[in-house]
Amino acid sequence: MPVTWRGATRELHLHNGRLSLVMAVLENGWLGQLHVGAPLDPAASYRHLGPTDFRGFSNRVDEPIGLAVPTAGSGDFRAPALVVESPDGSGVLDLVYQAHRIVAGKPDLDGLPSTYVEDAAEATTVEIDLADRIAGLRVTLSLTIFEDRPVIARSMRLANEGGGRLVVRTAMSASLDLPDGPWDLLTLSGAWARERRPHRAALLPGRRSVGSLRGATGHQQDPSLFLLRPGTDESHGDGFVVSLVYSGNFLAEAEVGPRGSTRTRIGLHPEGFAWTLEPGASFTSPEAVIAWSSDGLGGLSDALHGLFRERLARGFWRDRPRPVLLNSWEGVYFDFDHDRLVEMARAAADLGVELFVLDDGWFGERDDDTSSLGDWQVDRRKLPGGLGPLAADVEALGLRFGLWIEPEMVSPRSRLFEAHPDWAIGVPGRPRTESRQQLVLDLSRPAVVDHLEAAIAAILESASISYVKWDMNRNITEPYGASLPADRQGEFFHRYLLGTYELWRRLTSRFPEVLFESCAGGGGRFDPGMLAYAPQAWTSDDTDAIERLAIQWGASHLYPLSSMGAHVSAVPNHQVGRTTPLATRAAVAFFGVLGYELDPRALDDAERDEIRAQVAFYREHREVFQRGRFIRLRSPLGRDDAAWMVVAPDRRRAIAAHVQILQRPVPPPDRLRLRGLDPGLAYRVVPWPAPAGGGREPVRRGGDLLLAAGLGLEPEDPSTGAARGDFRARIWVLTAD
Ligand code: DGJ
Repeated sequence: MPVTWRGATRELHLHNGRLSLVMAVLENGWLGQLHVGAPLDPAASYRHLGPTDFRGFSNRVDEPIGLAVPTAGSGDFRAPALVVESPDGSGVLDLVYQAHRIVAGKPDLDGLPSTYVEDAAEATTVEIDLADRIAGLRVTLSLTIFEDRPVIARSMRLANEGGGRLVVRTAMSASLDLPDGPWDLLTLSGAWARERRPHRAALLPGRRSVGSLRGATGHQQDPSLFLLRPGTDESHGDGFVVSLVYSGNFLAEAEVGPRGSTRTRIGLHPEGFAWTLEPGASFTSPEAVIAWSSDGLGGLSDALHGLFRERLARGFWRDRPRPVLLNSWEGVYFDFDHDRLVEMARAAADLGVELFVLDDGWFGERDDDTSSLGDWQVDRRKLPGGLGPLAADVEALGLRFGLWIEPEMVSPRSRLFEAHPDWAIGVPGRPRTESRQQLVLDLSRPAVVDHLEAAIAAILESASISYVKWDMNRNITEPYGASLPADRQGEFFHRYLLGTYELWRRLTSRFPEVLFESCAGGGGRFDPGMLAYAPQAWTSDDTDAIERLAIQWGASHLYPLSSMGAHVSAVPNHQVGRTTPLATRAAVAFFGVLGYELDPRALDDAERDEIRAQVAFYREHREVFQRGRFIRLRSPLGRDDAAWMVVAPDRRRAIAAHVQILQRPVPPPDRLRLRGLDPGLAYRVVPWPAPAGGGREPVRRGGDLLLAAGLGLEPEDPSTGAARGDFRARIWVLTAD
């Protein structure tokens, strides 16, 4: 059993040989946290790692005691995990251990996305009841350890068992107390079209946080953070990652206390949050996942990639090969009609593409982004026959058909807004702030969710639609729930998310075979919460190959390649104006779920041939790209080159890519050392595409050599060292004999 209770010392130990979490009931009944991280022997006691005779912080204020659910106001001046206001207005709690239950498997979280198991033997959950007698509050801390992953999932349920009204002000999904320092903090931060740049710095005394108050996780910060020992690199060193399975306002924070201990907490952002619990009511926090590795950042990414791909993503498409798509957006934007789309699809079919996606502009009277969101009826001016005949024509070409929607939004210029102006979020009597000429619908209202379910379902039933891109192009301003009383407005943002998740749940269960891709102006809501409904996400609106190196590099810290939409687009690139070779655009997009986003009718013969070969190559190796182990080799950030690779689970096939961003004269000799291969196997190393003029005999290299000395990165003309130009990519396929 991976959860052990030692009655004599009142210790709970979650262990699976890959990580340990040890807690103990302290003398005053509080739940202490003795150890989290490296695996420990479950037979031993670790009580000596915690405080002795702890009866509260009296006369030991500021002592860096590890606590599982730290609260405020009684001598622990660090950031609390839980603040609940009692009927008398105070926020002090005395959470005393009551009981615990160890159960096989992992229960679902009510109305919230979470990781799961398919068989109870995959994980063990311990539910620990703590109670504050005076407030009448029961806290059930739920911790699940997976059998063969270095991961623990954690959430908290709060129940009002007293007679008065309680108000939850802070309810962190996870709180970890690490007894020492130093730690580096790594966060993934950015902006629209520049998402998820890794930022790493040593933690200093005090707090450092990232978060969102936008109503979505946002392009700006990913809801996760890494704590790494200084010196930890891609493949060596100790570290944690904590990540929140949530898509709205969040806070992720690390705090170094006066004596060097480090507290990390992650959960709903407390700013503006207040959730009322009437007697008998309960509240469940989102889930946080915590992974530990002593194999560096790469080890942490391995843990999350596996968990997110196999036990967070779900449904029909979870394990199926994802189709190569062509999306209409950058090719024609709003300017299309039935015939034009069919011609695009015909040209796409000729390239080997498998799915044709009609992006924005097919509904209402939407010729630009100033109108029609909310009017989910086909624009008959552009598509006189509707979606049915269009999908049929596309399918007759051997492609599947997919569609863009943005259900959460309404344009002030729309029939929906005329009929239901009160459905748009805003504070009565105050102007609403528009963004992209649109407003957000109040999904905290069940009537709005019901309407959207019916409207989107009608569209999905009206034609043969195999794929949906669910976009969301602005954040929430003037947050206010018109159906909530004045004293419950602090619940608004979370209720919006609960309504949004409910809409996702209903539509994904009504259309289980539709492949859903989430999007929010690119990666503005690419988060673990969304992955529970949509197994892939549009990684960024920036489709430039060089920018994508950095964006996909950053996203790969957490998210598997099977979740990252990556498209080849036209040049000069529409976001940055850069011209890169077609081969390089594909080499970058291969490391994700490949798509094209250009007008295929505009390609010349040579480009068509090249793309045909790219699509065929990707389809041949799709299993490795989408389900292999992704390994970061050289960061594009602050360097002139970048490299990464994927390795099949049996290590018999691998594909490595190197991109020279800028060339420099007289480059020093360079070799790309690979990782993840089997040192005992010999691999055939074949460059792709084969060099012009026919390939040389493929070389055979031992896995040991490729790991130790790697592949040579000789310049194109070795005699002069002449560069081949900027933005050049190389790909090698390694196959074990
Ligand atoms: C933002 C998305 O990220 C784009 O890919 C595209 O779908 C546009 N919205 C359409 O309005």
